[in-house]
This record gives sequence, structure tokens and C-alpha cells, in this order.
Amino acid sequence: MLMLITWFLFSVPLSCFAFIPDNTEHFNSVIGELTDRLADLEERLSTQEHINIDLETRLKVQEKRNREQEDLIKALFARTCITSKQAAFERQQDAKLHKNSFNRKSSVDKEKTESGSSVLTTFEKATVSEKGVNEQFVIIKHGLHGANRSMKDVQNIDCDRVAFYSYLSNTDMHPKPNQTIVFDHVVTNTGGKFNFKTGIFTCPIQGVYAFSWTVYCSNGGYLISELVVNSRSVGDMLCSGQGDDNIRHTSSVAVVELNEGDRVYVRLHPIAVLNGVLWSGPTYLSSFSGWTIF
Ligand SMILES: *[C@@H]1O[C@H](CO)[C@@H](O)[C@H](O)[C@H]1NC(C)=O
Ligand SMILES: *[C@@H]1O[C@H](CO)[C@@H](O)[C@H](O)[C@H]1NC(C)=O
Repeated sequence: MLMLITWFLFSVPLSCFAFIPDNTEHFNSVIGELTDRLADLEERLSTQEHINIDLETRLKVQEKRNREQEDLIKALFARTCITSKQAAFERQQDAKLHKNSFNRKSSVDKEKTESGSSVLTTFEKATVSEKGVNEQFVIIKHGLHGANRSMKDVQNIDCDRVAFYSYLSNTDMHPKPNQTIVFDHVVTNTGGKFNFKTGIFTCPIQGVYAFSWTVYCSNGGYLISELVVNSRSVGDMLCSGQGDDNIRHTSSVAVVELNEGDRVYVRLHPIAVLNGVLWSGPTYLSSFSGWTIF
């Protein structure tokens, strides 16, 4: 037993010494390995730093592009749109106008119920015409999601596309030169920019618009009408019933670029001699219409 303990006491340190060279070797190899890995990591870190710098640069370029695109989108919308508040207000005006034009003969009760549905109809019309715009908004919303800048500005903008159609409710037996034709019976006035009391359409926002007008003239006579932007004629049309024993009509179309506030109307030629009657009746309506193209 004693011998065993003695052997153990001696053998342990001996065996420890026996391991020392092995451990050092292992330690050195571990250090070597760690040094290599550290060098590798340093290299990777350096590569990563370069990648980061590259990404930062690209991000800045992308952010700049996003801002430019947003500005472009805003400019486009500013060109063709106004705020939804204003559009809603105009729709209300339009609904009132619609009600006034069509419900005059209705009884008070009927008017009460119909005015509600008239407002609804107008809103439905506006909704349909703005459907395309809403689709655009969805695209833009998604497009700008990443940028997340001034989203409220874009969301609050609503397009102001207008369209009107109005006809002359009565024949004018004595049309005079330079007289504005007041197409007084409004059928459509989406956006409320056509004034049926003056016959003048006022452009709500810069854009391209189309106008069409139809004039019935009397048998044996003729009328020259003009489409006027502010005071400049942009289209002249002769309606001649000469040589005929019945009424005749002509129509014309014009596409014009307008600025906000431009006034568009149809007038009779300022100096040409007119010889005829400006007809309008249940089966032969002289009319004026216009709409936003873009
Ligand atoms: C977008 O910006 C608003 C503040 O204007 C913030 O509250 C919101 O968390 C942002 N959304 C994202 C997805 O970054
Ligand atoms: C036509 O009417 C406009 C406005 O009412 C007026 O400014 C213009 O001088 C008139 N032209 C002629 C030829 O009478």
C-alpha cells in the first residue's frame, strides 16, 4: 500500500512532466490557428467595411432617386390634382346644381328623398371617374412605402378631372354678333366648373382639355360660332342652312392646353354678318361639352 502511494506520488508529477511538451505544442497550434482565424476575420471585416461603404453610397444614391421620384410624382399630381377637400366641396356644389336642374318640378317630399339620391349619383359618378386615379394612388403608395416621406401629402391629394355637358333649352330667334351662347341646361357638370348662367367653363388646373359644340341653324340662314379661350378664338364653325328649307346642324371638336383660370366658351362670330336663328328644342339640341384629357 505504501509502495503504491509512493509510486503514485512520484508517478503523478512525472506523468505531468511527461505531458508538458505535448500541451505546449497543442497550445502553440491553437494560437497559430487563432492567429490565422483572427487574420481571416480581420480580412473579412475589412471586406465587410468596404461592402458597407459601397452599400451606404448606393443607399444614398437610392434615397436621392426616391426623393427625385417623389418630387416628380408630387409635381405630376400638383399639375392635375387638387386636394380632396376641394374636390369634395365641388362635388357637393355639383350635386346641388344637379338637384336644381332636375328636381325643380318635384314635390317637396320627393325632392327631399331625391336630393339624397342625386348626391349619391353624383358621388358615384365621381367615384367611377376617380377609380383610375385611385388605382394610380395604390401604385404610388406601394412605390413610396420604402421612402416613407410626405406620404400624407400624397394621400391628401385628389385628382380634379372635370367633365360637363350642357345644352341650350330654348331657341334664340335673334342671335347677335359677339354674343356668348349660354348653354343653360346642365346635364353633367362633374367638378362644377361649367357655369350655366354665363355659359363659361373655368379651367380648374393646367392640363389638356377637349371641347365639342353643336349648333343648329335655321333654314335659309347661317351662323358662325367660335370656341373661345379667354378672348382668343381657337375654333370657328359655320352652320349653313342656305338653300335648304329645313334646319341644319354642325359640330366641331377642339383640343386645347389650358392654364388654371382660363375661361372657355362658345360665342357667335364678333363681326361676321349672321343670318339665321339659333335653334334648340326637344329633338334638336344645340349643346356644349368639355372634359379633361390629362
Ligand atoms: C413612416 O413615418 C412615420 C412618421 O412620419 C412613422 O410613424 C412610421 O413608423 C414610418 N413607417 C415606416 C414603415 O417606417
Ligand atoms: C366682343 O365682346 C367682348 C366682351 O364682351 C368685347 O371686349 C369686345 O370688344 C367685343 N368685340 C366686338 C367686335 O364687339
